[in-house]
Amino acid sequence: MLKLKSSFVYLVCLFILIILLSPANSAAQPPLKQKTISAHRAADYIHAVIETDRTIYSQYIVERLGETVSLKASENWDKTNALPLPAQFLMMSSKIVNSKNLGIKYRLMSLWPINKKNASRTKEEKVGLKKVALNPNQPYVWTVRKNGQVLFNAVYPDLAVTKSCVQCHNSHPRSPKRDFKRNDVMGGIYISFPISNMKKETAQNNLAVVPEVVADYVHAILEADRTVYAKHIVNRLQKKNIIYASENWWEENTLLLPAQFLLNASDLIKNMRLGLDYKLISLWPINQHNGPANRFERIGLETVASRPFRPYIGTTQIGNRSYFQAVYPDIAVTPACITCHNAHPKSPKHDFKLYDVIGGIVVSVPTGTD
Ligand code: HEC
Ligand code: HEC
Repeated sequence: MLKLKSSFVYLVCLFILIILLSPANSAAQPPLKQKTISAHRAADYIHAVIETDRTIYSQYIVERLGETVSLKASENWDKTNALPLPAQFLMMSSKIVNSKNLGIKYRLMSLWPINKKNASRTKEEKVGLKKVALNPNQPYVWTVRKNGQVLFNAVYPDLAVTKSCVQCHNSHPRSPKRDFKRNDVMGGIYISFPISNMKKETAQNNLAVVPEVVADYVHAILEADRTVYAKHIVNRLQKKNIIYASENWWEENTLLLPAQFLLNASDLIKNMRLGLDYKLISLWPINQHNGPANRFERIGLETVASRPFRPYIGTTQIGNRSYFQAVYPDIAVTPACITCHNAHPKSPKHDFKLYDVIGGIVVSVPTGTD
C-alpha cells in the first residue's frame, strides 16, 4: 500500500515537472509555425546588438564621463576607481553569454592585440581579420563542422570610432601597432552559432536559423550587458561613492540607469533600420511610454508575470514584412530594483518584492520578405 502511494506521489511529481518544463505549455501557447532566418541576417542582428551596446558604453559612459567629470577608464579598473575599458566590458559580457551554452559564442580580437589572448585562434579567424581590415563594408563568413554540428562563423570589423581608441592603443606599451588613425579597423568581432537547417551543404544562402533561437541570442546578449553594467559599473561605483546612476543622467553628468542603457541602445538599433527591435516594458511602468503597446505585449507580460520560465512568443505582420516576437520576463534580481521602483513617485505599483517580475523585454526579429 505504502509502495503504491509513493509511486503515485512520484507520478504526480513527474507530471507536474513535465508540465513545468514543456516549452509549449509553459507559456500556455500552441506550437508556432516559424519561418527561418538566413544565417547571414541572424549574424547581422547579433552583431548589431553587440555593437550598439558597445557604442553606448564607449560614448555615453566612457567618453562623456571622461570629459565632463574626469572619470577614467583603465585596464586595472577593478583595483582602482575607474571604469572598465570598452574591450573589457565586451569581454565580460561575452564570457557570460558563452557560458550559457545556448550555441552562440562571440569575442573581440585583433591582428595587433594589446592582450595576446585577443589574437586570432584559427587560420580562418586570421583570414577573417585580414579581409575585414581590407574591406570593412562586409563581414567575412565561413562554416565549419564540429561535433556533428555545422557552425556559422562571421568576423565583423571593429572600428576606431572615437579618438580615445586611437590614442590609448597607439601609446600602450604592449601594443604592437602605433599608427592607428581615426576610423581605422582596429580588430574584429567574431561571432559563431550552429545552423539549424541546411538544405544544400555548400550553398551559403541556404544556411538558416530558427527565429526563436535568434531572439534567445539577442536576449542573452542584452541581459549579459545589463548585468555587467549594473554590477561592475553602477553598483560598484555607487558603493565607492565615485558616481551614481540617475534618471536625469545627461543634465547631472551621472551614469544612465540600467533601464535607460537598454532603452538608448534600442533607439540606436532602430536607427540602423535592420527591422530588429527590442524594448523594455511593464504592466506597471514608471514611464508611460514603457507600457504594453498592443494585445500581444499585454498578454505576453501577463503570461511571463505568472510563469517566468520561457518567453511568450508570437508572430506579426507589419506591411509586407513578418516578424517573430518574444516577451522575456524582467526580474527584480537585486534589492535596488524594488527599492527604487517601489519608492518612485511615478510608479503605479509600490509593493514589488525581490525576484518579482517587474516587466518584460520584447524582442522582435524580422523573418523577412525574402
Ligand atoms: C584607455 C585605453 C583604451 C581605450 C580608450 C580603448 N582601448 Fe581597446 N584595448 C585596450 C586594452 C588595454 C586592451 C586589452 C584588454 C585586455 O586585457 O584584454 C584593449 C583591447 C582591444 C581590442 C582587442 C584586441 C587587443 O588589442 O587586445 C580591440 C579590438 C580594441 N581594444 C579596440 C578598441 C576600440 C575600437 C576602442 C574605442 C571604441 C578602444 N579599443 C578603446 C585599451 C584601450
Ligand atoms: C535608481 C532607480 C532604479 C533602479 C535601481 C531600477 N530601475 Fe527600473 N526604471 C527606473 C526608471 C526611472 C525607469 C523609467 C525609465 C524611462 O524613463 O524610460 C525604469 C524602467 C524600468 C522598466 C520599464 C518599465 C517602466 O517602469 O518604465 C523595467 C521593466 C524596469 N525598470 C525594471 C528594473 C529592474 C528589473 C531593475 C533591477 C535590475 C531596475 N529596474 C532597477 C528606475 C530604476
